[in-house]
Amino acid sequence: MDRYAVIGNPIAHSKSPRIHALFAAQTAQALSYEALLGPLGAFAATVDAFRAAGGRGLNVTVPFKLDAFAYATRRTPRAEAAGAVNTLAFGPDEVLGDNTDGAGLLRDITVNLGCPLTGRRVLLLGAGGAARGSLLPLLLTEPARLVVANRSSAKAVALAAEFARLPSCAVAVKPEGCGFADLAGAQFDVVINATSASLGDAAPDLPDGLYAPGSLAYDMMYGKGDTPFLAAARAQGAGRLADGLGMLVEQAAESFALWRGVRPDTAPVLAALRAG
Ligand code: ATR
Repeated sequence: MDRYAVIGNPIAHSKSPRIHALFAAQTAQALSYEALLGPLGAFAATVDAFRAAGGRGLNVTVPFKLDAFAYATRRTPRAEAAGAVNTLAFGPDEVLGDNTDGAGLLRDITVNLGCPLTGRRVLLLGAGGAARGSLLPLLLTEPARLVVANRSSAKAVALAAEFARLPSCAVAVKPEGCGFADLAGAQFDVVINATSASLGDAAPDLPDGLYAPGSLAYDMMYGKGDTPFLAAARAQGAGRLADGLGMLVEQAAESFALWRGVRPDTAPVLAALRAG
């Protein structure tokens, strides 16, 4: 049976084994998928051992996405743009590194939530790895405006400038970078939280009035009930709220499709996860 796994540290609470088991059952693919605890500082050795034992592919999560980027011998353009790899596929002659996070985010927002981004005003909060990974796919949807805002504004300005340098034949929209306070007076149709603030039980400190009527507040994090960001967005008048569970399932489906050549139906899997 073909072996796959998710590698991270910590990894015990990962939902990926359950998601991929549901995908495999639904598509009648004979495979196993486990959770692999990667010792810190020993990513390559752990992956080497998994491959030697017959592993065909890995999902990669915190804190190893940069290690996976370095481990790959070939990378997809979206992995290059993200500067991080969350999916490895082991072939006979190469290790392909991909990044399916941004595609998962986009699919959750535009397909599952039915919220088109083209021509909309989009605000991306954060300037770390999660924000970087979603910038190119967001730009390719051609929003009217894409603002990257971060607690430390310099990081957002630098990240936006990097993507603004892409040729305009490839990406028509130039992202803008700023700090949270600089957002005062602006309004957005979609606000995406790519900060890790929720991990510390905090919400980004944003000015009031950001949410246009009917706007979507989307948190890449998820948990029981509203995340701190979603609770704040609700209080500030966001029209719709969504957490990142759909993104998790969609990025997994994209990895599964890369490995197996068949795209699972995500709706019943997301429903099963929501049910507990
Ligand atoms: P990730 O890979 O999850 O993006 P990261 O690269 O460590 O993690 O980036 C964390 C992001 O969350 C950063 O944008 C960070 O802001 P700073 O650059 O100012 O540190 C943001 N962040 C973390 N805690 C935050 C908080 N309490 N409020 C606002 N932003 C926060």
